[in-house]
Amino acid sequence: MMLALVVVANPNSSSMSHAMAAEAQQTLQQLGYQLVIHDLYAERFDPIQRSNESQNNSSHDQLVERYCSEIARADLILIFHPNWWGQPPAILKGWVDRVLRLDTAYRYEENADFSAVPLGLLKAKCALVFNTSNTPAKREMAVFGDPLEQIWRNCIFDLCGVKNFIRRMYGPVSGSTPEERAAWLAEIKDLIKSVA
Ligand SMILES: Cc1cc2nc3c(=O)[nH]c(=O)nc-3n(C[C@H](O)[C@H](O)[C@H](O)COP(=O)(O)O)c2cc1C
Repeated sequence: MMLALVVVANPNSSSMSHAMAAEAQQTLQQLGYQLVIHDLYAERFDPIQRSNESQNNSSHDQLVERYCSEIARADLILIFHPNWWGQPPAILKGWVDRVLRLDTAYRYEENADFSAVPLGLLKAKCALVFNTSNTPAKREMAVFGDPLEQIWRNCIFDLCGVKNFIRRMYGPVSGSTPEERAAWLAEIKDLIKSVA
């Protein structure tokens, strides 16, 4: 059975991020996927990298160990979060720091030091990131350079070996109509069906 890992990072459970994650969950269930869903705020995930994790390849935090074994096995990875200052919320940044770790998400060639180009280890056939934001897409690109695209596509998933990467940023959420929001959810459903 194929495994899909869904991670949601939005403190507001009635947010658009959560509605999108629920749509994805339903779609993946219909497609017969085994699902693992993590609502990082609800689970009170601790985003802080402890000094005793200095090699960053093991943790005393059992939740981190669980997340690591799941992401290593996942066939699909789906992440939902709002655009906060052109970045993921801190709780999700901490998830990246602690879970996409050395020997789980990437490694180095034997005898190479950490300045070498890392080798990606994730076996997922596709990673999907769904963002919400209030900045119109044109301004996000022209003024800020769409930093979330750079972070997720290049710095994270490409490095970890997931070359098939899809990202959508929906918005402006503020002032959006029920019809617009329904169309975003429908697009997410179709997108997931097309990759799953
Ligand atoms: C701390 C914080 C920082 C934010 N920074 C941005 C930003 O840089 N760009 C932007 O478009 N929206 C920003 N927002 C607005 C959120 O992106 C917006 O509330 C969210 O996308 C709404 O969707 P949701 O229903 O999924 O929460 C910020 C909101 C908060 C709370």
